[in-house]
Amino acid sequence: MTDWKEADRAHAWHPYTQMLTAPPPLGIERAEGVYLYTSEGKRILDGISSWWVNSLGHSNPRLNRALARQAEKLQQVIFAGATHPGAAELAARLAAITPGGLDHCFYSDDGSTAVEVALKMAAQYWRNQGREDRTLFVSMTNSYHGDTFGTMAVGGSPVFHTNFSPFFFPTRHFNCVRKDSRDTAPAASLEAGGDGSLEEILEREGDQVAAVIIEPKLQGAGGMIVWPSASLVEIRDLCDRHGTILIADEVFTGFGRTGPLFACEHGPIVPDIICLSKALTAGYMPLAATLSTDKIYDSFLSEDRGKTFFHGHSYTANALACAIALENLDIFEEEKILPRIAEIEGLFSQRLRKLEDLPPVSNTRCIGTLAALDVAPENAGGGGYLDSIGPRLATEFLKRDILLRPLGNVLYFLPPYIITDEEIHRVFDEMEDILGNL
Ligand SMILES: Cc1ncc(COP(=O)(O)O)c(C=O)c1O
Repeated sequence: MTDWKEADRAHAWHPYTQMLTAPPPLGIERAEGVYLYTSEGKRILDGISSWWVNSLGHSNPRLNRALARQAEKLQQVIFAGATHPGAAELAARLAAITPGGLDHCFYSDDGSTAVEVALKMAAQYWRNQGREDRTLFVSMTNSYHGDTFGTMAVGGSPVFHTNFSPFFFPTRHFNCVRKDSRDTAPAASLEAGGDGSLEEILEREGDQVAAVIIEPKLQGAGGMIVWPSASLVEIRDLCDRHGTILIADEVFTGFGRTGPLFACEHGPIVPDIICLSKALTAGYMPLAATLSTDKIYDSFLSEDRGKTFFHGHSYTANALACAIALENLDIFEEEKILPRIAEIEGLFSQRLRKLEDLPPVSNTRCIGTLAALDVAPENAGGGGYLDSIGPRLATEFLKRDILLRPLGNVLYFLPPYIITDEEIHRVFDEMEDILGNL
């Protein structure tokens, strides 16, 4: 291919991209550490971990070697009626490191399928016990759980999902309390949302609820909203009191993003089902895992084959992806990744404090390796995903060789964990300059 960019322009349809007006995509030929290298020879700092997946840097030597080793042995095999050492070992290790009792691992391909699997598991859990009436799902306003129909139905983003809403199953939404900076405030109660507080929804319709689904501690695509740990405990208690299932979508928050290995540990709480993807393979390969407790798993065990979980994907438990995920877990154990995340969080909150006084900045917040803030919107309507300040800021940062992708007027920085202090300071210096001169 002589002109691959021309081929891209003519034939590649990019995600979340208005193909008529978007600037040409960055042409990335290779990447190493926190840097992406363009075909024009530019070195760009990946400030969003390539859509929140890359945790240990690009072209990590250990992960590269693990991939090469596995490629020599086994790349892919059907996972219905067959298994392989990597999938078995990874299932056992994920069961051991996730919050207690999540012992049964179901593999799929990405964040959306991890959540889709969880929703279907919860729905069939009730049906397998003759409770066909429990079909209602409850989620948070501003939530984002993926782009397949089931995950959109429990999502709370009008901009992303309104075009498809006639096809959604019924859901109810409640609000979480927003928190700025670190979570140091005392217990905060859950607020009333679109359909009331979670307590009101469960009092009213709890006996029809199949499951409550949350993004623990941090809502990502909905605007990088940090919410109180006390609410996690409150939600778990309410689900227990009303006998319903709690699904924790840790697709974004899992594997250290918010500080501990899993955001549920902030409670701490143990969900009935947890969804993992993104940093599961450190951003190398598409892989997802949905883990459930004995209670959920046992409801599918039956002489009646109709109670089987009829779900699966061609690439379920892909052997290359499992090998990478195992090496990723080894790196977490051997290379002191969690203490480094704590250091990054400290530096982020220090640098965010300096941004707080700039006129266009409000609501600075920080957790783990996420630093976020709101920028004064440019358009009428008070901000939101479509505010033009987002693309304008992205362009400004790109001019300074930093890749950021604001969510409307929410600017955030979410680098790979291997970023150095100097690189962090450089990004915050540029932020100060750009935001100070808006
Ligand atoms: C919390 C959460 N759940 C699910 C998803 C969907 O993941 P994917 O894009 O891999 O389908 C995302 C993606 O950003 C997410 O943040």
